[in-house]
Order: sequence, then C-alpha cells, then structure tokens
Amino acid sequence: MMTSLPQTALDNLLEEAKQAATNSYSPYSGFKVGAALRLADGTVVTGTNVENVSYGLTICAERAALVRAVSEFGPEIRIVAVAVANLNGAASPPCGACRQMLAEFAEPETAVVFPAAVGMKTMPFDQVLPLGFDMKLKKTGKKE
Ligand code: THU
Repeated sequence: MMTSLPQTALDNLLEEAKQAATNSYSPYSGFKVGAALRLADGTVVTGTNVENVSYGLTICAERAALVRAVSEFGPEIRIVAVAVANLNGAASPPCGACRQMLAEFAEPETAVVFPAAVGMKTMPFDQVLPLGFDMKLKKTGKKE
C-alpha cells in the first residue's frame, strides 16, 4: 500500500527536489542530487549532496534533507513522501545507507519517487527497503 497523496503533491515534491539539486556541492562526481521530504503536516524539507575531498565523508541529498528535517522540527517527524531528483539525467534511487536512515522516520506506505532507468518510479517505502535493520530497542526519541 502507498500513501494516497494527490499526484500534484508528488509532482510538487519532485520540483522541490530538482530545485534543491541546483545547490549541490559535487566537484568530485559532478552528480547533482536533490531530495525533498514531505512531512505528515505537509511541510517540505529539502537537501542536496555535499561531497568532500575525502570521498567517503560525502553526504547524500536524502540524508542531508533528513538531518535538516530532524534538526528543524524535532525527533517526532514522520515522512509521508520522499522525492529524489538529479540534474544529470541518470537513474538515482536512494542508496542503501539513505534507505536505512529514512526508515526511522518513514511509514511502510511512504511514497518514494525517483528517477529510474526508464522514466520515474514511485514505490512504497517497504518495497524500497524490504529488510531494514531494526533492533527493536528504540527509546521514545521524544524530547524530555
Ligand atoms: N548521492 C546522493 O546524493 N544520493 C544517493 O542516494 C546516491 C548518491 C550522491 C553522493 C555523491 O555526491 C554523488 O551522488 C555520486 O555518488
């Protein structure tokens, strides 16, 4: 099952992701990625990839958006849709690390829209990450 958001909401989210990609700092790969997260209250938070000369320190657009969302709105945010875009005309589904990070704040039904090998693809989060790691040890995460 997938969150029943109007197609226009997903289209708008994708536009926000594209816009975010224009801020990409990617001098090493030249791959400009943007992500936009729609939160449960309709707020949209965007992010872009930020690379580093020590390549492994690079942060992806999806995780940049996620840390921004939690930093701005706190630990109780829920993500109802994710859009990913790039300015390179390539496929770019969220990487494994980003899927695992998003899992903490996404629902199984959260819609994930991304550029696929051919055209765009929209999938529910539980299909994007079918076997995420979970220790079932989570504390509330609420502010004390
Ligand atoms: N990248 C993302 O921003 N998101 C992903 O899910 C995959 C990869 C970025 C990281 C790096 O800056 C560039 O794309 C090439 O790997």
